[in-house]
Amino acid sequence: MADVTDLLDAGERLGPKELRALQLERLRTTLRHAYENVPFYRKSFDKAGVRPEDCRSLADLARFPFTTKADLRENYPYGMFAVPRERIRRLHASSGTTGRPTVVGYTDNDLSLWADMVARSIRAAGGRPGDVVHVAYGYGLFTGGLGAHYGAERLGCTVVPASGGMTARQVQLIQDLRPSVIMVTPSYMLTLLDEFERQGVDPRGTSLRVGVFGAEPWTEQMRREIEERCAIDAVDIYGLSEVIGPGVAQECAETKDGLHVWEDHFYPEIVDPITGEVLPEGEKGELVFTSLTKEAMPVVRYRTRDLTRLLPGTARVFRRMEKITGRSDDMVILRGVNLFPTQIEEIVLRTPGVAPHFQLRLTREGRLDALTVRAEARPDAPFEVRETAARAIVAAVKDGIGVSVDVEIVEPESLERSVGKIRRIVDLRPREAG
Ligand code: DLL
Repeated sequence: MADVTDLLDAGERLGPKELRALQLERLRTTLRHAYENVPFYRKSFDKAGVRPEDCRSLADLARFPFTTKADLRENYPYGMFAVPRERIRRLHASSGTTGRPTVVGYTDNDLSLWADMVARSIRAAGGRPGDVVHVAYGYGLFTGGLGAHYGAERLGCTVVPASGGMTARQVQLIQDLRPSVIMVTPSYMLTLLDEFERQGVDPRGTSLRVGVFGAEPWTEQMRREIEERCAIDAVDIYGLSEVIGPGVAQECAETKDGLHVWEDHFYPEIVDPITGEVLPEGEKGELVFTSLTKEAMPVVRYRTRDLTRLLPGTARVFRRMEKITGRSDDMVILRGVNLFPTQIEEIVLRTPGVAPHFQLRLTREGRLDALTVRAEARPDAPFEVRETAARAIVAAVKDGIGVSVDVEIVEPESLERSVGKIRRIVDLRPREAG
């Protein structure tokens, strides 16, 4: 097989100095494009007293104002577009949990860039031209399905556009069409693995070799669980609709050490989520992106709310981001202690007798919030093991996170299964009056 370096595209072959120079040139063009064509950016730059030409170095980007999801909502549907609507070839929308969704648009060139970035991602994951790729991300306004689809086609793969749902049929398709790559959320992959087992088929015996998992946070423990159960390499893909969709950052199969940010097109910063100050490399904070080459909807310093840190490049010249701990929105504050669903995932997945399916229920008792971890027993776990498991989870959360929670070990197959992005937190607290 060819050495991976033979397969790199021009952007991946840049040296560090060339990369920084290219980023600065593209950044200046993007700031000008946004300022001249999007009234929102003109207003926000003017208000902050900065002009595109004030950006003379990459560090100068810190002088420019942030863009938030609220800004996108206020400019719904087409207000953030920098080109006439006729040049927009496709729209996607992100699934807002409340209120208006946010709409994003792509020109022909944007769609082509997106396909290139997903092709680069699949290649970094270990996919190759000629592979059959099973896409089980949802197709539609969500960027997962179509994003993965066109990227796999661009790489020269044969695509099975399965989309999400109809789990039994997915298992059939995987057995018949013999894909080597699967692209799906990690939580739906677990649903698929359970279905293989239910049908009496050993998932370790399938044609699958590589899994490209993303769209939701997942942990190293989850990687191990999936890799062991179906004998594949499981790697992480990251992205968000506001920036482009999947294919903003990707973990390389050869190192599995965090996600290389495709920063020749998407410039990352880490900021303090409270003060907005740019943090030095290696410190953990909120990930912020500026697009460098997008036409239809350039984004300047978009606050993702995703928490991670930036690390130097390894398998590629580009910086890496550590696996996402969670979104600031998903952080539970329990009696003063911050807790993320991924921390519970790590604990649940290393507890014997417990399946990798769990849910977090938030309730209010008097004036205090309480959290119940509901985790499923493995079908073969004897009853005594369930009790030991519950005690072990309570103790691990207390020792590791520093807070008391209740734990219920529920019957196998009793928690709702994911068909796409999983919702871990069920908030049953009464709504605040007013
Ligand atoms: O989830 C795009 C995507 C599709 C990425 C398929 C990867 C695979 P949105 O629906 O706009 O776009 O949601 C974006 O999902 O801000 C993160 O909070 C979360 N997210 C995406 N990828 C990861 C990941 C798509 N690998 C939001 N790890 C982001 C953790 C992720 N969280």
